[in-house]
Amino acid sequence: MQNRSMKMLGVSAALVLGLTACAGGGAGSEGGDDTGGGDAAPEDMTVGVSMPTQTYERWLNDGAAVEDGLEELGYNADLQYADDDIPTQQQQIDQMITQDMDALIIASIDGSALTSQLDAADAAGIPVISYDRLLTNSENVDFYVTFDNFAVGQEQANALLYGLGILDEDFEPAEDAPEETLNVELFAGSLDDNNARFFWDGAMDVLEPYIEDETIAVPSGQTTIDQAATQRWEQETAQERMENLLTSTYRGEEELHGVLSPADPLSRGIINALRSDGLGDTIEDGLPIVTGQDAEIATVSLIAEGVQHSTIFKDTRLLAEQAVNAADTFLNGEEPEANDTESYDNGSAVIPSYLLPVEMILQENYEEILVDSEYYTEEQVESGQQ
Ligand code: GAL
Repeated sequence: MQNRSMKMLGVSAALVLGLTACAGGGAGSEGGDDTGGGDAAPEDMTVGVSMPTQTYERWLNDGAAVEDGLEELGYNADLQYADDDIPTQQQQIDQMITQDMDALIIASIDGSALTSQLDAADAAGIPVISYDRLLTNSENVDFYVTFDNFAVGQEQANALLYGLGILDEDFEPAEDAPEETLNVELFAGSLDDNNARFFWDGAMDVLEPYIEDETIAVPSGQTTIDQAATQRWEQETAQERMENLLTSTYRGEEELHGVLSPADPLSRGIINALRSDGLGDTIEDGLPIVTGQDAEIATVSLIAEGVQHSTIFKDTRLLAEQAVNAADTFLNGEEPEANDTESYDNGSAVIPSYLLPVEMILQENYEEILVDSEYYTEEQVESGQQ
């Protein structure tokens, strides 16, 4: 794991340096009117930041980091959270446009629900940066900053196979892999979030061959993203579905060995269901292998205690930095540099994107990746609180 994570950190550093080197060297706006700013000083400009919800730890970290980053460059920031309610987010963005924000950074609830806001922003010459989740069905999205979402899914699946003993610590087929077919259940995110499909496709890209050769099985038969989806990424919904799966499928001979979960709160709901069902308190005493995403502090604590097996770390400090750089570049009359101009077709246009790398977190590397990098302190990991 050490080599692997060192390599990933190297990639991450190179990407950030690459962007810094390129910032300011862009080709200029094609349309010509979404590059804002002109001669105004940052102190005279405000960037609207629209985030989906405060109930998820990661969006609190994202909002705070974007706000700090903008203020460090001298801009004003108007940060708003939408309580996972689509009309609230629409209203907040409408208001930001009426108030003449100079740029918008948006992490959507439903990526397709903001087209009229995006039209209005375009008409007002306000550059729009899609944050983490892709804004869809509109040409009026100027830039997208996110992580390599397909890789998130692949790493979740690799972590699951590693936890099940099918892959070894180098992620090669394990010599002492179990001979019997292992049972897993699959969870996906919210279908109105474009990321959910990338995570699912990445995970299935890795898992499908193992399902086909019967190394693993999905006894519930629920193997499509529609069957596995979790509306609005809600913990309770995932917990309930896990309880139902245990009742419908695991009351006879079948034993459950692992669960593909796309995000940490869902994982915690799933673990609650597994624990209440008496499947064990920790992996050591029989709890199935559960994956995750976001490296939320409550989850990192569970990983340290041997309860949740893995999560995927997405350094929101770097994402916030990319969003702030992109806004600043537009407001200086230039175009931010993309490192991916192919993957993110939003249904109306391929949106120039900047993708950041991700890292798998396990009990054996959380200290090196999360504590040594000062993302969390050891005390926070111990208490499970930020
Ligand atoms: C996704 C995001 C994940 C996770 C999830 C639930 O869009 O990429 O990191 O946070 O939403 O909030």
